[in-house]
Amino acid sequence: MATVFGVDIGGSGIKGAPVDLDAGALAQERHKVLTPQPSSPEAVVEAVGEVVRRFGHQGPVGLTFPGVVVGGHTRTAANVDKRWIGLDAAAMFQDALGLPATVLNDADAAGLAELTYGAGRAHGGVVLVLTFGTGIGSALFVDGALVPNTELGHLELRGKDAELRASSAVRERHDLSWPQWAERVDEYLELVERLFSPQLIIIGGGVSRKHEKFLPLLTRREAELVPATLRNDAGIVGAAMAAAKAG
Ligand code: BGC
Repeated sequence: MATVFGVDIGGSGIKGAPVDLDAGALAQERHKVLTPQPSSPEAVVEAVGEVVRRFGHQGPVGLTFPGVVVGGHTRTAANVDKRWIGLDAAAMFQDALGLPATVLNDADAAGLAELTYGAGRAHGGVVLVLTFGTGIGSALFVDGALVPNTELGHLELRGKDAELRASSAVRERHDLSWPQWAERVDEYLELVERLFSPQLIIIGGGVSRKHEKFLPLLTRREAELVPATLRNDAGIVGAAMAAAKAG
């Protein structure tokens, strides 16, 4: 299968690499640049161009975005510049890169990669992938089919957005201990379970690298709980998968 390029656009970094879709892994070491601040569409497009051009890539490019994406249009922007709301992001990237571009939600991309190559491989039933980073991202699967843009990081927990209580960024910002943070995550998982009764919950995002510090402390759930296996590369791999599928 041809190599497709994946770019993961996050609140703090923009990472990209060519992806080997047979292996479900990066074909070369990824390149990362800091997300411009403010993360205006023009500045981000420019930074993405820098990442893609570095590899001299020609061919389809898949890109993640940390907000709702419908038909290539970005509809929300909780952790990036609000000027993204309502843009035809796919067309913007396509024009700037001169290459076919596909845009999807970051957690949806990570979820696609985990269900195809990682911790959720060949798993049927209701599977939920949650990414803990700047925000909380979610990807819901029913018998392997993605229900896109579920946005479960914005469920209300103790009167506010759940991601403002239990994201990984909140743990760092408030200097929470692992048990303190795990208590918040556990409460969040309980809420999510009440609504969706997933059989498997996959915990992703950068913090999944340190899963041994907090997964054993999560006790209140019914579902099987496992760490993501593609870790921080899941977004890049999932973005490339989406681009390949779009043809
Ligand atoms: C956004 C989601 C995104 C998540 C993780 C949330 O604030 O609303 O779309 O998936 O952060 O980046």
